[in-house]
Parts: sequence; C-alpha cells; structure tokens
Amino acid sequence: MKRALGTCYYPEQWPRELWEADARRMVEAGLTWVRIGEFGWSRLEPRPGEFAFEWLDQAINVLGSAGLKVKLGTPTVAPPRWLVNKHPDMIALDRDGRPRKFGSRRHYCFSHEGYAEECARIVEILARRYGGHPLIAAWQTDNEYGCHDTILSYSDAARHAFQDWLNARYSTVEALNQAWGNVFWSMDYRAFDEIDLPNLTVTEPNPAHELAFRRFSSDQVVRFNRRQVEIIRRHSSAPISHNYMGRVTDFDHFKVGNDLDIATWDSYPLGFLEDRVGAPPDRQRHFARQGDPDFQAFHHDLYRAVGNGRWWVMEQQPGPVNWAPANPAPLPGMVRLWTWEAFAHGAEAVCYFRWRQAPFGQEQLHAGLLRPDNADAPALAEARQVADELKSAPDVPVGLAPVALVFDYDAGFAWAAQPHGQGLSYFQLVFDTYRALRRLGLSIDILPPTTEDFGAYKLVVAPGLMHVPEALKRRLSEASGTVVLGPRTGARGVDFDIPVPLPPDWPDLDVTVNRVESLRGDMPVALEGGGAVTLYREELEGSADVVLRLEEGGAPVAMRSSNMIYLGAWLDAPGFERLFTPLAAAAGLEVHRLPDGVRVRDAGGQRFWLNYGAEPVGTPAGWLDVAGVLQETL
Ligand code: GAL
Repeated sequence: MKRALGTCYYPEQWPRELWEADARRMVEAGLTWVRIGEFGWSRLEPRPGEFAFEWLDQAINVLGSAGLKVKLGTPTVAPPRWLVNKHPDMIALDRDGRPRKFGSRRHYCFSHEGYAEECARIVEILARRYGGHPLIAAWQTDNEYGCHDTILSYSDAARHAFQDWLNARYSTVEALNQAWGNVFWSMDYRAFDEIDLPNLTVTEPNPAHELAFRRFSSDQVVRFNRRQVEIIRRHSSAPISHNYMGRVTDFDHFKVGNDLDIATWDSYPLGFLEDRVGAPPDRQRHFARQGDPDFQAFHHDLYRAVGNGRWWVMEQQPGPVNWAPANPAPLPGMVRLWTWEAFAHGAEAVCYFRWRQAPFGQEQLHAGLLRPDNADAPALAEARQVADELKSAPDVPVGLAPVALVFDYDAGFAWAAQPHGQGLSYFQLVFDTYRALRRLGLSIDILPPTTEDFGAYKLVVAPGLMHVPEALKRRLSEASGTVVLGPRTGARGVDFDIPVPLPPDWPDLDVTVNRVESLRGDMPVALEGGGAVTLYREELEGSADVVLRLEEGGAPVAMRSSNMIYLGAWLDAPGFERLFTPLAAAAGLEVHRLPDGVRVRDAGGQRFWLNYGAEPVGTPAGWLDVAGVLQETL
C-alpha cells in the first residue's frame, strides 16, 4: 500500500484565478488527495431549489486534471440560513434548553425529520451529478459528527423520536418502568408519550433514563449517516468515509464505521492538549509545542479499528490553530513527525488542514500550508519532505499488535450516566491504561466489544466495561492470553441496575466487589511496593490470588485466577507500571523503559521510534533528535 498526502481545500472561498496555480502547487508539493465541498451548501443552493453547480464542476476539473484525487464532502454540516428559516425547529437545544442558533455550523438536530429529508435531497442531487464522475475518487459524509458537543439534543423532535425508540425497545411502558426501576421516587409512567428527555430535572435524572437517551442519541447518528451512505452508494462505487474527532464518545463510532469504507479523523495535537488530553498542567507545558505523546497514537489505533483496518488522518494540524485555550506554533519538525506517526499506525493518507489560511471568518488565525498572502507557510516544506521520503521509504505493513485494548462506546455512555465522582470518565480510564502500556514500549490494537476472537493477543486489557453482554464475557473468558478486567467490569445490567450476584460475577474467577468508593483527586491511596490508587477503588473479596494490595491494611487491589486478572481500582502511572510490567514480561513481550516523550510503534517488520520530548535522546536504534523519527527494519 502506497501511503499518500493531501489537503483540504475550499475553492468557493477563493477567486477562480487562483485555482490552477493552487492545484499545480499541491502536486509539486507531493500531495495526491484534495478534499472539497463540505461547507459549500449556501453556494451550491443559494435559494431553495435553485442550484449553482458550475463552480464545483470547474473546481473538480481543475484539481482532477492537475492529477489530484478528489474527495467530495456532503455539505450537511452547515445548512444555509434559508433552510433554517424554512425549518426553525431543526435547531438542536442544549441541556439547558437553549437553542444552538444559526451563525456557525452543526446547528441541527439529528432527529429532525424535515432536516433529514433536506439532507437526503441535497445528497441525492450531488450523488447523481458526481457519482459517476471519473475525477471523484472518494466521498465524505457531513463533517465531524459530535464536534462542538452536538450529539445530545433536547429538542421536541428528539423527544418524539426518543419516545418511539423506547416503544420499539421495551414494547410496553410497564416493562420500561420495571427495567428502569421507576418505582423509585414515584417515577412510573403510564404511556410512552409521557416520557420526557432527561434534562432540566430538579436533581439528577434516573441513570437508566440517561443511559437510554445516550444510546438513542447514538443510534440517531448512525441512522443519519446511513441515509447518506445508502444514497451515495446507489450512484457511486467510490469509497465513503467520515472524519471523526478526538475524544468524542457520544456516539458509537464502530456502528457508524460499519456503514462506511474508510474511517478518517482530524488530528490537532496542540489544539487537543489542554482540554482533551487530561494531563496535569506541568506536562501540558512540557509538550505545548509537540502535543501529548499518546493522544494521537490512541486515536490512530482506535480509528484503525473503526475503519476495519482502513483509516486516514483527514485533517492534520499544520501550525497554530485558532480554537484551543492557547494556540502555540509546533516545534520545527513536528508536522513531519505527526505525519510519520500516522503512517506507522497504518494510515493510508494524511491530509493537512488547510491548504491556505483564510483571511476571513472564524478561522482567520488557523494556519494552513500557505499563508493568506499565498507564500509558503512553514508546514509546506515539512509536507514536501515527507512526500520525498515516502518515495524511497519501505512500505509500512500494519501487522497485528501483541496487546489488545477493548474500547466500548456503550460503556462510555454508562460511565457518563452516573460517574459517581468528578473526573470519572471512561475515556480517561482507557486512555490512562493505553498510556501505561505505551510507556512500556508496547504496540496496541484497540478492538471493539464485538470482537469475535481474542486468541491472537498475548495480553488483552478491558477496563471499565460497565455492562458486559454474555457473548463478550464468553469470548474474553476464552482468550488464551492474559486478560485484565476492571475496574467496574459488569458493574451494571443492561438497564443500569446493580446485578446480583454482585460484580464482576466472572466464570472461574472468585472475586466479588463488595463496596465501591470514589476518591478526591488529592487523596491517592498508596499501594504496597509503590504506586497508588487514584479517583476510584473497589473493595474486593474472594479466594483468587492477590496481585496488588494496599500498603495500609493490605486490602487486595488486583486479584488473579489462572490467566484472568481483576483490577479493582483506577491506578496512577507507577501503579499501572507495577501491574503491567510483570504481566508483559511473563507473556514474552519485549518491554522498553522509554524516556519521557519517546514512543515506539511496531508495525509488521518495521519499528518506529518517535521523540515528542523537548530534548534529543539516545535509543537502542540510535540518536533521536527533537521531533525525530527513526525507522528500523526488525
Ligand atoms: C476541524 C473541522 C474543520 C476546521 C478545523 C480547524 O474540527 O473539521 O472544518 O474547523 O477543525 O482546526
């Protein structure tokens, strides 16, 4: 597989005279892909039913004839003003019931049938016109579902659709009352149309209600996306993708991904650092111009799974962005490092956002490959360098990693429905676990909960699976490698009830969680031998062997029976290291004690060393400069 580079381009934002030169310069820089169209609705259909396709026809021809492959986006992320005037109730409402008004983007509710029909209409028109076009090589649906917190909508349209969804799921309202435990606080309903959305309640809503609403909202995204995919497929055989975001867990990406050919995601390493990574301030400062050393890799591995092996970086940060709390410039070389890191994790393509910095609109302060005056911005030379390097670099086979980490969006919904303490987020737990494994130099495959067979993995780690369907329980129990479960494995039934027998209720593992507590962030509880429990702890009892225990009192923290380990706590970094180091060694895995900021990724017979640190550093493969990348053939 030849790895490729590309960019995101908005012909409608630039004078026609620039297009030829832009296309030529893209090709000269070694780019092969260009994505267009996803924000073009107001210029494609300036008034209801009145179309203007000439500019898009021309843009596709100019770009395609220059030798670029064109990915065409459907424009449904940004419905024009006239459309909102026509359907004023298509606007999503936030949790406080406030409208998310026109004037930026993503101002729609996934449940509004009128808007869904408008989307189907514009997608049908585009797919008919361009579906057979020889220069259209791929499609993108919409843009970043869930960005700007846009999955959960508390509109009337959502309420009606939720009631229908509940009716289909529970059949009778009595069954729903029973499943949710609505006898508690006299919350029984007599009919589905009495059930409101779980916002604006006096105190927290029933977590079963909240969980159902999150599952429903996720299904609405799957439906919305599927509708576009079915239309495009009727007219085109080109692959269809969607560009996901970093740390968006409000919908099940695996389910959306099953309808698509390729998963892509938008990687903004410096933009994400402050409010998505969850690292302490001193680490953020240390990595301010490089990005977190694990955050990009985590999403590369996640979206490789979401795309069933096929994935891209659709938008790669090329310089300072405009939207984070602080927006520094990357260290020289980081754009190249980020690009190579994506290839090391199996990306088919990396595209830079955006071609030229726009001197107008919300993103004026967002760098591109070109400056607003058309001169080269610093990232262009780094992109060109990667394009040159790709010509002679050995190809990167993806291969199988030795470690599997299970990621389950439904568990994320359950953690969000009732976290039981500040900072208790499923994403953060899985990400902390991932980081701990990577600090030991391990390469990881992230897997969906529907994985049929874990047999290929020496170590399978499945933290936080709040509800474990029987099939998943069986498949994890059958794994031949070492399996690490918990905390919160099987802590709730499908409708958020505490199950009896008490969790984890796992075959051949005599461990019972008899009580749980959440901890303040500033009250770590020390482990015997080093490391600590943070944020959350379970009291464990049973006859399984103790693997980790508390320093004071000696209570068990992790217990083991043959290849199954139950971890009853959220550990800090040294705690995770104490748990994983002997397990990895016993599983025959090569463990590296990596310097801070250095990461390793094995892909087939290739090993990549990457330096996110602010200092050059020696590695077994040689000297790694700041922003350095080394590729070894094993
Ligand atoms: C992404 C989005 C792009 C652009 C970019 C700026 O989230 O898909 O359209 O807004 O961020 O960094």
